[in-house]
Amino acid sequence: MTDAVSPRMTTDLSGRVAIVTGAGRGIGRCISRTLARCAATIACVDVNLAAAEETVSLIHADGGQAAAFACDVTNSDQVNAVVDAVVQQYQELHILVNNAGITRDGLLLRMKDEQWDAVLNVNLRGTFLFTRAAARHLIKVGGARIINIASISGLMGNPGQANYSASKAGVIGFTRTVARELASRQVTVNAVAPGFIATDMAQALGESILKQIQDRTPLGRLGEPQDVADAVLFLASPAAAFITGTVLRVDGGLAE
Ligand code: NAI
Repeated sequence: MTDAVSPRMTTDLSGRVAIVTGAGRGIGRCISRTLARCAATIACVDVNLAAAEETVSLIHADGGQAAAFACDVTNSDQVNAVVDAVVQQYQELHILVNNAGITRDGLLLRMKDEQWDAVLNVNLRGTFLFTRAAARHLIKVGGARIINIASISGLMGNPGQANYSASKAGVIGFTRTVARELASRQVTVNAVAPGFIATDMAQALGESILKQIQDRTPLGRLGEPQDVADAVLFLASPAAAFITGTVLRVDGGLAE
């Protein structure tokens, strides 16, 4: 996994304020740095404040603007407080990227209630809570964006991930409904469904499974965080103004 950030498209997001959840590492960090490279101001939200602050330092070192916010996305009060704090600090909110996510893998017959609840809470409830809190601000600005990070697991299923694939399929259904609800306010709502991306989360699968996945992927490699971040950047950009309610797969062809 590379820690470099290098968007492969350019767009001008100056004056735009974005919240990115799970911004402390992996894909969320790369999304935050990528949007900041295009001059957006980033509220880096993570349950791990030190990690979010590290992302902010990287953005500052790149010459960008960002601030860190501690928040557990499953906690309604914390989510509402963070959205209020961001709007108080920057006056407006234009982009929400619901990226925070976890896995607690296990086969169905052995899956514990806690594994199911933890994954549904972070991945699906967290996306709902942030979207609800942000929406009342997003509808006030022209051309706001909500981008939800789903997974191909939510489209095709994956043994050992009944909880995770249910949560991500839920995110996709949620995306489609909210897209319809907010369309009249010119807020677009889309999902990005990554395949296997080389982050700490994917490393947990182990080398031999990752090698099998790579062999099954038509483009012959795992994804990089930048592959996902560039898709998010496109959906956040003015170029995607007429796209809403879609699921953009970023999977090297794996789920086709
Ligand atoms: P990661 O585990 O490297 O990073 C997740 C971040 O979310 C961490 O900084 C963590 O502290 C934060 N987080 C976890 N629970 C939180 C909570 N309750 N409140 C606030 N922040 C919380 O994960 P990665 O790989 O960067 O994944 C990011 C997103 O992409 C997730 O939604 C994941 O499901 C999705 N995804 C990842 C894939 C992969 O292969 N890595 C494939 C498909 C989707």
